[in-house]
Amino acid sequence: MKVLVATEKPFAKKAVEGIREIVEGAGYELALLEKYADRSELLAAVADADALIVRSDKVTAEVIAAAPNLKIVVRAGAGYDNVDLAAASGRGIVVMNTPGQNSNAVAELAVAMMIFMARNRFTPGTGSEIQGKTLGIHAYGNVGRLVGRKGKALGMRVVAYDPFVSDPQVFAADGVEQVSSVEELYRVSDYLSLHIPATPQTTGSIGYELLTSMPKGATLVNTARKEVIDEEGLMRALTEREDLKYVTDIAAAVQPELDEKFGKRVFATAKKMGAETAEANLNAGLAAARQIVGFFTDGCTRFQVNKA
Ligand code: 3PG
Repeated sequence: MKVLVATEKPFAKKAVEGIREIVEGAGYELALLEKYADRSELLAAVADADALIVRSDKVTAEVIAAAPNLKIVVRAGAGYDNVDLAAASGRGIVVMNTPGQNSNAVAELAVAMMIFMARNRFTPGTGSEIQGKTLGIHAYGNVGRLVGRKGKALGMRVVAYDPFVSDPQVFAADGVEQVSSVEELYRVSDYLSLHIPATPQTTGSIGYELLTSMPKGATLVNTARKEVIDEEGLMRALTEREDLKYVTDIAAAVQPELDEKFGKRVFATAKKMGAETAEANLNAGLAAARQIVGFFTDGCTRFQVNKA
């Protein structure tokens, strides 16, 4: 049984060592494809893989077709929009994620980004404080919850909206106010932290109307996905509202234009780094390896995201 770890953005060394221990300890072979520059390398590497661990690496129908032995794909992370679920399901391949394992790293980055923007991107000049401001959390899942709790600890008023969380106790337990609509969320949030996944329903859903409804001086913080932003709407909102700011961990397709037009009001990390901590790599990598062993040894399909 061969387990391939294919990571264009590699895990920390300790995480790879841990994955190896789990995989080889179960009697399987581990293959590594890191920092690959061309998709052809991935296509070649999956040819004899029974299991695949990836991060944001794109597992397309082409990749699946090139992997005749493949039985399971684990996305070591939360969002699985990089995996072609229809193609995998069509072949009976189980797809899993590792929910929660890298959430704290992403939540800490979201908080750091708020402070970074509040302090003029650490350049000279008078900034502002986040204490006392309203933080809106769009989607109250694993990352959203952690950002909410951290916001509370920093003295912010925290409000949240999540159409899939119906129990008000989930919000109340964190001292977070639940708002009843996405429109209300944006209308009251000085900082808006995005935690929605990229799906056909959310793609391009954050645009001009929501952004221009935000309070004066508001900042949109995106540690989720670039696809959820209507970039044309974002551009228009930033043009019309000279007080708005946008900070993202996933550069927009139009990022060079945003940088040029809006200067210090926008910022994108050079490469997605939300989950780039030793701790998150270790948590997500080991969970992925354990889930694969559990699947092969006990048929465990917990965390499968393509159940019929
Ligand atoms: C996730 O969905 O878990 C995050 O976006 C992290 O992605 P990465 O593993 O590519 O850093």
